[in-house]
Amino acid sequence: MSQQLAQVAEAMGAKGKGILAADESSGTIRKRFDGIGVESTEASRRDYREMLFRTTGALRDCISGVILFDETLRQSAADGTPLVQLISDAGAIPGIKIDKGAKDLAGAPGEKVTEGLDGLRERLAEYYELGARFTKWRAVIDIGRGGDRSIPGSYCIGANAHALARMAALSQEQGLVPIVEPEVLMDGDHGIDRCFEVTEATLKQVYMALFHQRVLLEGSVLKPNMVLSGKLCAEQAGVDEVAEKTVRCLKRAVPSAVPSIVFLSGGQSDLEATAHLNAMNAANDTPWNLSFSYGRALQAAPLKAWGGEVDNKPAAQAAFGHRARMNGLATHGRWSMELEQAAA
Ligand code: 13P
Repeated sequence: MSQQLAQVAEAMGAKGKGILAADESSGTIRKRFDGIGVESTEASRRDYREMLFRTTGALRDCISGVILFDETLRQSAADGTPLVQLISDAGAIPGIKIDKGAKDLAGAPGEKVTEGLDGLRERLAEYYELGARFTKWRAVIDIGRGGDRSIPGSYCIGANAHALARMAALSQEQGLVPIVEPEVLMDGDHGIDRCFEVTEATLKQVYMALFHQRVLLEGSVLKPNMVLSGKLCAEQAGVDEVAEKTVRCLKRAVPSAVPSIVFLSGGQSDLEATAHLNAMNAANDTPWNLSFSYGRALQAAPLKAWGGEVDNKPAAQAAFGHRARMNGLATHGRWSMELEQAAA
């Protein structure tokens, strides 16, 4: 079992490849569809995701795994083929979002804790039967505005780290590789050094909790935020500073036994997410695979190109394939702005 977990965790960060996060909850996908004027129905969600999963070349060459929402794991393509099978036939590993969202943390106004542990063992057994081989759980850590250092509190970080470790231990027990995702949000007005400090503190708590709960690090994957300036901060760190500080922060907190680290995009632009990953891999100085697990930074372009029209399918698949290829190059540190423009 542990060897199988380790193999999957390694494959999820294979060079040249990364993860497509297509696990938007019903509320989030509705928001994305609203943005392009498409009604969110079971059929439209299926059509959109089927279109992405049928971008076969991109999946085969640049995508190691796909994170699905519960509904999608159970859906079939228009011709009756289960969507999970489309993904595995293209050589990618299907995975499942297992958390039930970030809810208000009692006694800590403005802070969140992710729920979804009750009944999880039984849900995981079913997900394995349905074809999933990894799980994902996202914890959300906010940084206080206007220099408020009380957020995040250690209570919030501790509660989220504990829940991440509970889900990771349960996932491994059921033969599934956990993606441990503690996201420090980039929404505030903080500078990059405050993001560094909060990310380091969070990751250290998370790895302590994983140790206490006997999680096999070799059979797990970390999905962290990059170390960035807050979106509302007047001073924005450049690509090299982001890459250097992100790797330095990870080196302080993430054991080298972890095979793969796959970043979330978290609201960066498509190009920023690619450029930052590329700079980290170009420096080529880490014990882990460094790759991507992007939602928005892989899907913004195809969503826009699609707009809900069947006729736009080839353009949308081309847009998705392009972003997947650019990020695939970034895992080798071989991406450049010239290639971006040449291929566009
Ligand atoms: P973004 O890349 O859009 O942040 O989404 C990744 C994800 O899966 C968040 O849980």
